[in-house]
Amino acid sequence: MNEHVSLPVPAEEATQRPNSRKVFIKTYGCQMNVYDSVRMGDALASEGYVTTEEMADADLVLLNTCHIREKAADKVYSALGRLREMKKTRAAEGREFMIGVTGCVAQAEGEEIVRREPAVDVVIGPQTYHRLPQALKSARTGRRVVDTEYAVEDKFEHLPKAEKAATRARGVTSFLTVQEGCDKFCTFCVVPYTRGSEVSRPLAQILDEAHRLVDAGVREITLLGQNVNAWRSEGPDGREWSLGDLLYRLADVPGLARLRYTTSHPRDMDDKLIEAHRDLRSLMPYLHLPVQAGSDRILKSMNRRHTAAEYLRLIERIRTARPDIAMSGDFIVGFPGETDADFEDTLRLVEEVGYASAYSFKYSTRPGTPGAELGDQVPEDVKSERLERLQALLLKQQADFAKSCVGKVIDLLLEKPGRMPGQVIGRSPWLQSVNVDAKTSQIGDIIPVRIIGTGPNSLFAEPAERLMRA
Ligand code: 5AD
Ligand code: SF4
Repeated sequence: MNEHVSLPVPAEEATQRPNSRKVFIKTYGCQMNVYDSVRMGDALASEGYVTTEEMADADLVLLNTCHIREKAADKVYSALGRLREMKKTRAAEGREFMIGVTGCVAQAEGEEIVRREPAVDVVIGPQTYHRLPQALKSARTGRRVVDTEYAVEDKFEHLPKAEKAATRARGVTSFLTVQEGCDKFCTFCVVPYTRGSEVSRPLAQILDEAHRLVDAGVREITLLGQNVNAWRSEGPDGREWSLGDLLYRLADVPGLARLRYTTSHPRDMDDKLIEAHRDLRSLMPYLHLPVQAGSDRILKSMNRRHTAAEYLRLIERIRTARPDIAMSGDFIVGFPGETDADFEDTLRLVEEVGYASAYSFKYSTRPGTPGAELGDQVPEDVKSERLERLQALLLKQQADFAKSCVGKVIDLLLEKPGRMPGQVIGRSPWLQSVNVDAKTSQIGDIIPVRIIGTGPNSLFAEPAERLMRA
């Protein structure tokens, strides 16, 4: 799980249905929210809504929110203030304008949201968004809905399946949520409270969705879960399958060229999953495996249930299985009680691992978590100074990794048109954006390219002969 992906939910051709209502969905936070936004869009499509990328055109605005850090929740309230003003203007024009809050802030704050911002029409947590169409109907008759239940029914069974055309319009890569919730209870984290305990989607449901996606032209699927590698389901052989088994099964789906999964907990990296990295060419050599800190004392206080040495040993095993794997991680600086020496341990661990990319954050106190009760909070300026040092090191590692790719011939999945005519943007196996001269008709193809240069956030490449794999 990271906070940096915010893919737009693509607009359908609104002109095809001139009388339909329009929904604008703003997605905050992690990839799980991106996936949920797409599914909410599908649920509303069956009620006649089309998605729009222009908030000004919308009859309904949904904020699909994130609660992971304090700032994330603050952003929602300031956005709601602006929406309240829009609603007033629309009311004066006699036009409907509804506001919905979904996602983790909805789950955590519930009624508090409508108390602070009465213009909100519906508040729906991540477990019940299949009830969104019903809630909107009810709100339209003046009965505002706040629904933050942990529903007993499976929302995925109740959500309409996306139309093939809608899936096709979304492109050649897709997320697929296979697991939700978390039982790990890291002491800094709200996820076990907002998303509930670990639940896995059944195998058959996942295979059905994967086949549908591939049928609509998807070439790469990223399996999602707050603890994706805690996924378990009964297999056709009656055995309990783990994520490794699922990956072996998905690797057999014809047309599905690439597989990824995120986010994993070090404790759940079992042998089967590591073997999958060794055996499956379609499983991309990139792994997001957060460690959070490098000091055992802090890891213990964070309730991470692993030491720095255990994490390093695990990476060694993964690299033995798949030597070209690129590592990514999450870090928190300034957890309560973190001393200079603890922080130096984090820097040392980063040096030892060598990350291809990473996300790092200042500790943010979350009410209701055990971390909020700890004394010895780290002053803000110390947190800022540590974050700056850590990010400088991580950025250097990222740049070094990008430079190490120059001259290599790699497989590139062509994803979308580039900014310049005649250019297409693709993804490297290591999740980097790569610009190359190609035709838009080639989107969806995997072509060999030679990396010829690096930019601040992407690489440049030229088409190459089919590679002899190094
Ligand atoms: N403060 C700062 N960062 C946090 N994360 C989770 N909770 C907090 C918090 N209270 C970070 C962790 C996690 C990522 C998604 O967000 O690094 O892996
Ligand atoms: Fe939060 Fe820890 Fe669970 Fe990740 S493993 S979601 S950081 S409690």
